[in-house]
Formats: sequence, structure tokens, C-alpha cells
Amino acid sequence: MILAKADIGNATLYHGDCLKILPTLGHIDAVIADPPYGINLGKISGTGRNRWNEGTNYGFDIVGDDRDFDPAPWLAFEKVVLFGGNHFGSRLPDASCWLVWDKRDGGTSDSCADCEMAWTNLKGPARLFSQKWRGMVRSGEENVSRGAIRLHPAQKPVAMLAWAIEQCKLPRGAVIFDPYMGSASLGIAALRGGYRYIGIDIERRWFDVACTRLKQEVAQGQLFTPEPAAPEQVGLFQEVA
Ligand SMILES: C[S@@+](CC[C@H](N)C(=O)[O-])C[C@H]1O[C@@H](n2cnc3c(N)ncnc32)[C@H](O)[C@@H]1O
Repeated sequence: MILAKADIGNATLYHGDCLKILPTLGHIDAVIADPPYGINLGKISGTGRNRWNEGTNYGFDIVGDDRDFDPAPWLAFEKVVLFGGNHFGSRLPDASCWLVWDKRDGGTSDSCADCEMAWTNLKGPARLFSQKWRGMVRSGEENVSRGAIRLHPAQKPVAMLAWAIEQCKLPRGAVIFDPYMGSASLGIAALRGGYRYIGIDIERRWFDVACTRLKQEVAQGQLFTPEPAAPEQVGLFQEVA
């Protein structure tokens, strides 16, 4: 059931359960998903991650993270990227093109994972992207350690997601579906890349955060949109036979 829906620029966002909304959606070119990994993140204690978390106004509790993730509904799509694939690898087909996000980027290992791994059904070899993202130390455009202003406990960097989109080799205007959108980091990357974006979150608070974030992105984009180019003058310099 669709609990709420918002059209924002080239994005359509839904509040509801992605598995229930999926049959109502039209054509999808790629599923790029960052689902609950089934690792009960909110209950892992004693890590630097959770000490940092104590200063925020939300926990690491993510709906669905307390049970095994079932990737089956997503596997038949033409292009699929599933973050956290190493946590549910026994339920995934063999694949060559894993996408690896190196979050340590030269830093020292600690209790958090050095990298995140996304299973894909894309053709080609495994690929690596490095961007430091350790607790409060976040490099890149979304990097600012803004403490409690972090938008989502499992927020991913926009630049890394833009790289993941690139690996899908989609034409401009293709429809990217993000069934577990959280704060819609993928939506920002999709809109910046000239794609259409559909995102869903089961929690109203993340749907609201995503709407606000994408509205700001679209408003900023409009500020910087160049004047439309003059129509092409076809044939002006055509050679006369
Ligand atoms: C790992 S987080 C995604 C974080 C996101 N990549 C970001 O950068 O903010 C997974 C999200 O999936 C949502 N979720 C869990 N089960 C869902 C379901 N059945 N349908 C839609 N959303 C769901 C959770 O509320 C959570 O916000």
C-alpha cells in the first residue's frame, strides 16, 4: 500500500513497503539497493560507531535489520546492484562484477569493516572505489562531519553511489529504482547524472528526510541550470554540391 507519494523533479518517492509497491511501478532499468543487511546494527555494542551514535537523536535501528535479507525479488531485473551482498552471499548467484567500496582508504583498520561489498549481475571484473567513511571522518562532498546532522544511520556517500551508477552503463534518462532509499543518497547521485529515480522507504521519517533532501537538490540544480542553448541550425554550413 502506498502511504504517501511525492514527485520531485525527475524523482518519485514513496512511503511504504517496497515489495508491496513494486507491482504498481512501471518500467525499471536498474535496481540499485542498499537494503537492511540483516546484521542488527543497532544492537552491536562497544564499537566506536555506537559511541558516536550516542550523540545523535536516532539509533542504528533499521527496519528489517533484525532478520535475514532475502534478495530473491530483485534478482530477475536486468541490472542489479545489491549493497551488503557479503552478508547474504549464500542466497546470491555466482558473480564476477562485485563492487567494492574501500571505506578505509589507507587508514588503520578498526572494529568497523574496511570495505562494503555490493553484489551485481553486471558483466565484467570486480571494481574498487576508495572513499574514506569512518564514523565521523567522512571524505568527499557529503563529508562534512556534521555530527548529529547526519541524515541517516546507514547513509552512503553520493560520490560512491554515482560511481556505482556508472558501472551500470545506463543511457541518460534511464529509470533507477532504489527500494530501500533511506535519505535518498542514491537519488541525489541519480538526478545529478541525468537519470530518473524511484525511491521507497518503509519509515515515514526517512521518506520525509528524502523529500526534503531531493527538493533542496532540485532547487539548487535550477539555480545553476544554464540558459537553454539556441536551436541547432541544421544545414547552415552544408557544402553545396
Ligand atoms: C541501509 S538503509 C539505506 C540508507 C541509504 N542508502 C542512505 O544513504 O541513506 C535501508 C533502508 O531501508 C528501509 N526499509 C527496510 N525495509 C523496507 C521495506 N520493506 N520497504 C522499503 N524500505 C525499507 C529502512 O527504513 C532503511 O531506511
